[in-house]
This record gives sequence, structure tokens and C-alpha cells, in this order.
Amino acid sequence: MRTIYWENCIKMIDQTRLPDELFILEIHDVDELISAIQRLSIRGAPALEAAGGYGVALACREKSFGRLEDFKNYVKERAEKLAKARPTAVNLVVGVERVLKKVIEASSIEEAKNSALEEAERIAEEDIVRNKLMGGFGAKLIEDGDGILTICNTGSLATVEWGTALGVIRSAKLEGKNVRVFACETRPLNQGSRLTTWELLNDGIDVTLITDSMAGIVMRKGFVDKVIVGADRIVRDGVFNKIGTYTLAVLAKEHGIPFFVAAPLTTFDWEKEMKDVVIEERRDDELKYCHMKCMNCRIAPENVKVFNPAFDATPLEYVTALITEKGVIFPPYDRDVPKVLKKL
Ligand code: MRU
Repeated sequence: MRTIYWENCIKMIDQTRLPDELFILEIHDVDELISAIQRLSIRGAPALEAAGGYGVALACREKSFGRLEDFKNYVKERAEKLAKARPTAVNLVVGVERVLKKVIEASSIEEAKNSALEEAERIAEEDIVRNKLMGGFGAKLIEDGDGILTICNTGSLATVEWGTALGVIRSAKLEGKNVRVFACETRPLNQGSRLTTWELLNDGIDVTLITDSMAGIVMRKGFVDKVIVGADRIVRDGVFNKIGTYTLAVLAKEHGIPFFVAAPLTTFDWEKEMKDVVIEERRDDELKYCHMKCMNCRIAPENVKVFNPAFDATPLEYVTALITEKGVIFPPYDRDVPKVLKKL
């Protein structure tokens, strides 16, 4: 199942409609793409990298220009706006910058349009390949019969295809290992209950839905052998991922359960530290209403104060290993991550 692709415009699965409806959304300009990203029709760090790339290709086709310089200035301005659509996942910026570089290097408008689209397609194809590689490396860490706890959605829907943390689970299943997955519902936007359970049920993988606050009891009962999560940005002292990930890491440590992070190397932003990264804060309606689809169902007093960060940061000392497309990296990360990044 491919989450995002190009067919005269950007086509993507509208993730806000799942699990009820598999609807393909057509995006014709960068402003539409920005609002699709902000309302989470497309989401997940690697899927945002592909969206960023295709978005610049789209910007190249929005208007007609006579002069190459005017065209380049326009695309640059659109790309800058797109890169800021969501602040935490570094992959959106990576996808935008990679395709924008092709536009800047081009010596004609036609060349820019063609090479932008070619580069965006390359980003999408590379994502599929690296997820399968990551899956293969990560699957070696999983044993037959393992109970695996995960949060958010890190599957095909969060990437172009296959997935990061869910990709590891898929690869383990392909190797004949039976696993039981515990999917945290991932309040407030329920990527776990709406998307992860949908993907795993489609694949015939044993999945049990829990609320985020049930993670402790399932660990204490001995149901969980490993925690595997994805990442939106990995800096030199921590991992940014969906809100609730830090809680899972602390709980895993308390229960002696390995805590793995699966992410491509484009999610690493090794020059930065946790203090340098902006955590997106979202609308208070997401907490005050039962679900964004049910805006007539308020579950909190209208005037209550709300704190709604979409992500948190887990210090690297909680992470047992980082699963990447170049292999599994164990601590000490400050020694080994730079070596792996050089091979990018
Ligand atoms: O707000 P979202 O749904 O975009 O958050 C996504 C996550 O936190 C994922 O875990 C992360 O992007 C890794 S996806 C392969």
C-alpha cells in the first residue's frame, strides 16, 4: 500500500478518514499540501519527507514564468513556507531542501521542473528500500512469540511504504516469527487506534489496542518483551517522537524491557541537542472534544486550560539500540552514530 505518489498532482491516502474509508486525496498546490500536513491527512516523518519533495515539484508547476530567476525565487519562497508546515520532524525539511537544490542548480525552467519531479520520485523510492533494509536488521532483534509494545503509527502510512517500527514487525512476521503487538491508542489524535491497528489487522498480525495509560499494567503483567517506536528527529542527546514515547521509555527501563527506536538516517539531526528543537503544540480542541471528527461531543469544560504538545523527547540513555537502514547501532551513540552517518 503506497501512501503518497505522483499522478499529474500529488495523490495521498487521506489518513484523517481511516479506518472508515480509504480515500485518495488529490493535492494541486502547495497551500493545499500545507493544510493536508497540518490536519494530518499525511503524517509520519518519512511520509513528510516524500511530501516535502513532491511539494517542491508541485511548486514548480503552480505558475508560468518567463525568467528563470523569477521562477526560482517563487519556488524558493513556496519551499520555505512548506518546510515550516510542522516544526518537529526534520524529514520534511530534508525532503524540501533536497528537491529545492535541484531547482536551484537547473539552467532552464523546463530542466528544473523535470529534475525536481525526478528527485521527489527518488526520495519516495529510496524510502521504500530503506524501510525494508531497516526491517531486515530490526527483525533480527525479535524472537518468535515476542510481545511488542508500540505507539503512534509507524507503518506504511507513516512512510511511503512498509514502515519503520511497524516495518520491523512486518519483516519479523515475514521471517516466520509470530508476534503479539500492543498498540497504544495515542491520544489525542489516535494514530495508534485508527491507523496502526488497521494496518496490522490488514496484515493478519496479532494486535491488541490499549489506552496510553495501560502501558504500565501490560508491562507489569509480563505481556511486553520489547518496545519499538519510530522517531521524528534524533539529536545527539535524545529522540523526538509522538507524545507518550518518553513515558514508555521510562516504564520500559523500570521493567527491564529493551526499548528500540527504528528510523532512517534522514531522521538524524546530530548537530543539534534536545534544547534546540521546537516541539509542536496543537489546538486545545484536540483534548476538549472526544475526537476531531466529533466536534459536537465535548469531553472537558469549554474554558479549561490545555497543554497539547504533539511530541516529547526521550534522552538517549533510555534507548537500547537505534535501528537504521545501515544496521543496528548500540551505545555508545556519540562514538558510533557519526561513523554510520558518514556512510549516508
Ligand atoms: O503527529 P504524527 O502522527 O506525524 O507523529 C508521527 C510520529 O510520532 C511517528 O512515530 C514518527 O513520525 C515516526 S513514523 C515512521
